Amino acid sequence: MSIESLFAERNAGVEWSGIRIMFAMADQIDGIVNLGIGQPDFDTPVHIRDAAKKGLDQGYTRYPPAAGFQDLRDAVAEKLARENKIKADPESEIFIAVGAMQGIFNVMLHLVNPGDEVMVVDPGYDYYSQIRLFGGVPVRIPAREENKFKLDPADVKAAITPKTKAIILNTPSNPTGAVFDRDILEQVAGLCREHEIVVISDEPYEHILFDGNEHVSMGSLEGMKDLTVSIYTLSKSYAMTGWRVGYVAGHRAIISEMEKLMEHMVSGVTAVAQRAALAAITGSQDCVEQMVQRYARRRELVYEGLNSIPGISCIKPESTFYAFPNISSLGMSSWDFAKYMAREHKVAVVPGSIFGENGEGYVRISFATSSENLEKALKRLARGVAGL
Ligand SMILES: Cc1ncc(COP(=O)(O)O)c(C=O)c1O
Repeated sequence: MSIESLFAERNAGVEWSGIRIMFAMADQIDGIVNLGIGQPDFDTPVHIRDAAKKGLDQGYTRYPPAAGFQDLRDAVAEKLARENKIKADPESEIFIAVGAMQGIFNVMLHLVNPGDEVMVVDPGYDYYSQIRLFGGVPVRIPAREENKFKLDPADVKAAITPKTKAIILNTPSNPTGAVFDRDILEQVAGLCREHEIVVISDEPYEHILFDGNEHVSMGSLEGMKDLTVSIYTLSKSYAMTGWRVGYVAGHRAIISEMEKLMEHMVSGVTAVAQRAALAAITGSQDCVEQMVQRYARRRELVYEGLNSIPGISCIKPESTFYAFPNISSLGMSSWDFAKYMAREHKVAVVPGSIFGENGEGYVRISFATSSENLEKALKRLARGVAGL
């Protein structure tokens, strides 16, 4: 008997993240410059860390309420109204989650029945395992480079079937840095209202915007509040990936289900991490602004550097800390390119195919690292491409 034969069948739909596989390889290589990491290289700002330390001394060491501390939910409600134009009742329509990741997982668990179709943008963040775990069927909606990787509502319309349950939208987008404009979202919203499709709106990069781009939250559009589950995280805006705090806003029936399940799953988000989150949301936002300015300077460096390499072209990311250069003219798969660059030239990038079939021919480069590292990596990439 093998222990695997005892596993639940649903496990088969879950795959190791491709990024993790890439990192395991990169970790073995001494002196590698890692441009694969999707997290800020900055430390969590001091006032946020101080709030957590204070929280410990104040006794925030016991079980928190399953849906999160009420003062944090109140602060989230104010932020949502102010920044996202979403009106959510802090007692019944907001839920504090273990990062955006657990928010997404929790929503999938409540919405997806076997055979339900869930639309995802391709290339886009990898939600496939979360959909398949519950028997859902991911349906890919292409995002094309000639469209600056923005969603085309006509593609959404063409993909709708009677089995369509939900669409997951991630704007600003990982890995392409695209921002979906208001007009696009309005059109998709119209389709969702017509066909009763739930929008799972994953918005971790809402603050990391360049060139005056505007972030529009699906949940703020007319008639979309009850049909949208909006998911946010402290991870990227405040350099808090390790604290594991995010939040979800949605219809009270969904939030209530999530709260119920939270008890059985993890019994709430770590109490001191919630105190840190409260300080982050209610404190000065200068720290966010400063980090975004640093990303903006690095974006220029990466954009110029990549486009000066013959054979590579890259559109300018409108947001996030990722660039998504086109390497298709080099005549190798994105996995082969990533392996070659890691092994022969000591620079780690993420193969685009990890983000869906349409990501083939691209790689993801994170500029959440120092300018010195970026300069070093760009030189290595140029040398590597020249050596092909
Ligand atoms: C699009 C997207 N969604 C969700 C997450 C997960 O964020 P969190 O750290 O809040 O779980 C990430 C992290 O990289 C992401 O890029």
